[in-house]
Amino acid sequence: MYWSKAFIPTLKEMPQEAESLSHKFLLRSGAMRMLMAGAYIYLPLGLKVLENIQGIIRQEMNSCGASELLLPALHPLELWQKTGRDKDLGEVMFKFTDRRGRKLALGPTHEEVITELVKGQVSSYRQLPLVLYQIQTKFRDEIRPRFGLIRACEFIMKDAYSFDQDEVGLDKNYELMYEAYKRIFKRCGLDILITEADSGVMGGKVSHEFMVQAPLGEDIVLVCAKCRKAKAHKEGDNLCPACKSPMEKVNAIEVGHIFKLGTKYSQSMQANFSDDKGELKPVIMGCYGIGVSRLVSAIIEQNNDPDGIIWPKEVTPYQIIVLPLDVTNQEVMRQAEDFYKQLNALGFSVLFDDRDVRPGVKFKDADLLGIPLEVVIGKESLKNNSLELKDRRTKEKLVKPAAEILAKIREFYHG
Ligand SMILES: Nc1ncnc2c1ncn2[C@@H]1O[C@H](COP(=O)(O)OP(=O)(O)OP(=O)(O)O)[C@@H](O)[C@H]1O
Ligand SMILES: [Mg+2]
Ligand SMILES: [Zn+2]
Repeated sequence: MYWSKAFIPTLKEMPQEAESLSHKFLLRSGAMRMLMAGAYIYLPLGLKVLENIQGIIRQEMNSCGASELLLPALHPLELWQKTGRDKDLGEVMFKFTDRRGRKLALGPTHEEVITELVKGQVSSYRQLPLVLYQIQTKFRDEIRPRFGLIRACEFIMKDAYSFDQDEVGLDKNYELMYEAYKRIFKRCGLDILITEADSGVMGGKVSHEFMVQAPLGEDIVLVCAKCRKAKAHKEGDNLCPACKSPMEKVNAIEVGHIFKLGTKYSQSMQANFSDDKGELKPVIMGCYGIGVSRLVSAIIEQNNDPDGIIWPKEVTPYQIIVLPLDVTNQEVMRQAEDFYKQLNALGFSVLFDDRDVRPGVKFKDADLLGIPLEVVIGKESLKNNSLELKDRRTKEKLVKPAAEILAKIREFYHG
């Protein structure tokens, strides 16, 4: 992709409205813009990251035997009245009346809708277990939308729901999800703290939260200095359950939350199935959320330096950025285009900075964007018949002939 066509409006100045490091870098690197507090525009660069995260999530969900569907954002309020959660969620739900006088809500989450669906479609134990998920836009009228994508009023969530005949089945699906979550966050380049949490408005018993340590995090987690084990912060006890060492309080961002719901929703909504003895029983449920758009910010909070973002390999919007330092020099451009085409042919995603700007601007913008590998081609390269490869994270530079640089790039991405 040529920069001149890609629509990457980078900013030289620090945006005034940015309240967090990730928000600042998302705006400056031209990945995102604000429409209003709580609602954001994903520009092409931001959208690519979002799609990469979604790709990882889909792979890992599918590998657990979950099936993807897509539920509407528009809900009849009536459905929420069945479980009483219209009251529990209160002001958080966007509610309104349509021209026919129907009372509607914009979905803040989808337990009611999915339970209603399964109630209508599943009647026998033979149809269980069943695990469904979606990647979809949620709406919450948050009291304090802030930190950009971290707490928005319109945001993207992955929500999965499991349906089982018994607790043994639920435990199995829960364990599968727990392991899949660890893989997802690892692939997103995150170091995750996992805490056992109380499940609040969701009801149910067991739940785990997946947290990313960051100074702006709105949650407090206790972490063992010795073994890194984490737990939810409660008054009093602050010894590590594993090694009995003292634990320290850290701020963290919640990026995922999984719950064993049991029969909370199936009972209040009469989602029953007949078991192998013909007995009618409520289905046993679990629910599993990931803040997909919040993840974009959380990844930046953990992967940056003063110069900008450092995207982890699997989520980066482009794998390589090629910087021809002088676009008016035909030889430089020929060599750069040539290398760009080779990379494309090998299946790499490449951004080609074809802008006629000073080298200093290109270097600064490349570091700001955070693409893991930068290839620099200038007059010097022509003389020595070699290119320069820079690793964005380590800042290490390598000057070698094109063939060797190519081998390095392949090694970096394909191990
Ligand atoms: N307002 C929001 N903006 C962006 N992401 C959100 C928001 N609210 C929740 N999420 C994400 O969706 C996931 C699943 O939603 P869940 O209902 O469990 O969140 P929550 O417990 O209300 O989160 P929080 O405590 O941060 O408000 C969360 O783990 C979080 O990553
Ligand atoms: Mg919340
Ligand atoms: Zn410990």
